[in-house]
Amino acid sequence: MMGVKREHWDEVYRTKAADSVSWYQPTPEPSLQALDELQLPAGASLIDVGGGASSLADRLIERGWSDLTVLDIAAPALDVAKARLGDEAIRVAWVVADVTEWRPSRHYDVWHDRAVFHFLAEPAQRLAYRHALEAGTAPGSVLIIATFAPDGPERCSGLPVQRYDATALAAEFSPAFALARDWREEHTTPGGGRQSFQWCVFRRR
Ligand SMILES: C[S@@+](CC[C@H](N)C(=O)[O-])C[C@H]1O[C@@H](n2cnc3c(N)ncnc32)[C@H](O)[C@@H]1O
Repeated sequence: MMGVKREHWDEVYRTKAADSVSWYQPTPEPSLQALDELQLPAGASLIDVGGGASSLADRLIERGWSDLTVLDIAAPALDVAKARLGDEAIRVAWVVADVTEWRPSRHYDVWHDRAVFHFLAEPAQRLAYRHALEAGTAPGSVLIIATFAPDGPERCSGLPVQRYDATALAAEFSPAFALARDWREEHTTPGGGRQSFQWCVFRRR
């Protein structure tokens, strides 16, 4: 199963331009806004789980963040991000892993996930994700997560997704994480389509 997933994502990033995929954002505005509101120091640590070729790390490097990790199941996704960053790529720890099989060896102040958790269809996969999340965070750590909302698409990148509202996401991460803030976003795809996202910020108890 793991091989099938990895092959899917490797193929996506090998065959599509990073700025043509439906989840592409020129700037990761909702994530940056959430981080601004949290008023975290640039010395805080952040992991972008399933970060793919997102420019979140680029923008945070510009803001002086110095403890950044990007994890993705697809090495070609990280290659795109590394090539774009050039010499700055050494400022990021790059991890190729399936988050449901990964065991973090440290804690992060921020665990960021945009459009990754929603692919986990099986309860056992979600449990494995929570195990990684709980191993990679400590009391006070923040979880910033975005999934498709209940009126969002049923599929993403050709794969079925689970759709969540804030209550359903809070149930997934309770009791370890307390919901601090939630909002909806209408994402515009490069093709001009609209996708409803549910965003939540949680604080680990
Ligand atoms: C819809 S894309 C979102 C990418 C990025 N978060 C963004 O906002 O641009 C989903 C990403 O999750 C990665 N992914 C999917 N399943 C994963 C898993 N089990 N473990 C780690 N990464 C995964 C994919 O390779 C892909 O980069």
